[in-house]
Amino acid sequence: MTSPTPLIAGNWKMNGVAASLIEAQGVAAGLGETKARVAICPPATLVERAAAALKASPVLVGGQDCRAEASGAFTGDVAAEMLADAGARLVILGHSERRAGYGESDAVVAAKVEAALRAGLEPIVCVGETLEERKAEKALEVVTSQVRGSLPAALAGQAFSVAYEPVWAIGTGLTPTTAEIEEVHVAIRAALVELFGDHGKSAAILYGGSVKPSNAAEILHAREVGGALVGGASLKAEDFLGIIGAL
Ligand code: 13P
Repeated sequence: MTSPTPLIAGNWKMNGVAASLIEAQGVAAGLGETKARVAICPPATLVERAAAALKASPVLVGGQDCRAEASGAFTGDVAAEMLADAGARLVILGHSERRAGYGESDAVVAAKVEAALRAGLEPIVCVGETLEERKAEKALEVVTSQVRGSLPAALAGQAFSVAYEPVWAIGTGLTPTTAEIEEVHVAIRAALVELFGDHGKSAAILYGGSVKPSNAAEILHAREVGGALVGGASLKAEDFLGIIGAL
């Protein structure tokens, strides 16, 4: 089995209006030769326009969440089918901001992953420990348990990636040491192989949490790091391109 193709995805979170698409177009225009797949996950309101703006480029568009159901009386929610219909190819699921802010359990995330597959979207499934859990030396236990609980058996044979995002590193400027990142990524890989056999080796394991152009090279070249999920630094084309270029 060849090693996974790296994926560098930008999570715009709740940022961006039509005028922000200039940054997405800037990424497409500035993208040189890269071995990475590149994706931008704008807010749901921009998915269709981002997909149209990036149509002629290799930059993929993703959603940031979806509901497990395909349709129904769920005011304010977006179905995986709707994201796919709007032009998304991927979807971020189980981000800690959703796990913490909306009480999403591993089981809820797993149901959303199944919905993504049903709609033909490639899931990026997020896991990560809190600072308290890391201090209590529970990071590996928490993260591998999230992997086991959030990845349904339906992923066997399907394209997906896992993003390790320590909650305490998101938006804080703090990052784990390279050795800490490697320790968690190696443990995630072992859990993936335990769950999916050889297919578990084909999923990229992304790192997320305060990735910026200045630390990207070290992080992206760490053992079992197959790309990055980038928040704040994905909002500006120049910064995001700097991260992609560090691969
Ligand atoms: P920052 O890169 O802003 O720390 O956010 C990381 C993240 O949550 C990406 O999903």
